[in-house]
Amino acid sequence: MSTVDHDGPPDPGTAISVRGLRQRHGDLEAVRGISFDVAPGELFALLGTNGAGKTTTIETIEGFRRPAAGRVRVLGTDPYGHPPELRERVDAVLQQSGVFPELTVAETVDLARDLAADPMPRGDVLELTGLTAKAGAAVGTLSGGQRRRLDLGLAVLSRPDVLLLDEPTTGMDPEARRETWRLIAGIVADGAAVLLTTHYLDEAERLADRLAIMHRGEIRVAGTLREVVVDRGDRVGFRLPADVRADDLPAIGGAAPEVEPRDGGAWVGYTVRGDDPDARAHRALAELLDWARARGTVLGRLELRAASLEDVFLGVADGAADLISG
Ligand SMILES: Nc1ncnc2c1ncn2[C@@H]1O[C@H](COP(=O)(O)OP(=O)(O)O)[C@@H](O)[C@H]1O
Ligand SMILES: [Mg+2]
Repeated sequence: MSTVDHDGPPDPGTAISVRGLRQRHGDLEAVRGISFDVAPGELFALLGTNGAGKTTTIETIEGFRRPAAGRVRVLGTDPYGHPPELRERVDAVLQQSGVFPELTVAETVDLARDLAADPMPRGDVLELTGLTAKAGAAVGTLSGGQRRRLDLGLAVLSRPDVLLLDEPTTGMDPEARRETWRLIAGIVADGAAVLLTTHYLDEAERLADRLAIMHRGEIRVAGTLREVVVDRGDRVGFRLPADVRADDLPAIGGAAPEVEPRDGGAWVGYTVRGDDPDARAHRALAELLDWARARGTVLGRLELRAASLEDVFLGVADGAADLISG
């Protein structure tokens, strides 16, 4: 698990370094001592329920907020107040975008190009964002998803070294989201360090080299997708056979059975967390089937499910209530 030493110095190869960051909104401690690094050519996803503190974190890294405690460095520099050495190298798509609704898409792109040192050609930006056909349309007439893609185009046209994306695909249909994922993956492949917040788990699964799950201002889980998912374990489940008492169930793969009511009967579940993540489910299942054969019983509706990011996420959020509230 790649959590970060809270007091350690920033890694010199890092593009974004956050150490022990705390932020308040009035009485509310919105960010409670989080630490992570993002390297060049890496996409780090910050996941979390609404209100977890993701936007507050990204706005701090963008330089809009001074940390209440802890330290943030972007390309080795304190980003607070947008120092000139970062202006050309860092760009962001924040949740609130500041474009003029009456300008056309082409005019908006040109305005951003005027401010950049070595901008991409306008045609490339329009093509990249899929907005070529909308070049003459007023920004105010775009759909939510088209607006988000325009925001992204404006952020990447200066070819930034660090890109901060706060829920970049919110409001997009699946096709636009896929296009946007391709765009973002291309930016990472070109060597940018990208910090992305999202509450779409498939987006993190698709894009993230590493990820962290925030809840109530803290990072609860961090690592590569594989690391966080492997830690969670694989699930084996079946309906408790009528001829088996819960007390008679074996442990499998080192995991004890958990029995809970379901569909008017009892459901048995195991969470298997062996040392060998590739083989642990196979071994546990083999033990279970050996046991069932020896007992002469049949395990109804037997299922095996590898842990998913969703399981980890729901585990962090302490159940679905938190997910629905925001
Ligand atoms: N400007 C603000 N004033 C007061 N509270 C805020 C402000 N911005 C955010 N908050 C609160 O801080 C917490 C974290 O918010 P935020 O960083 O926006 O979380 P996320 O982006 O993960 O949804 C939430 O409880 C939110 O209501
Ligand atoms: Mg947010």
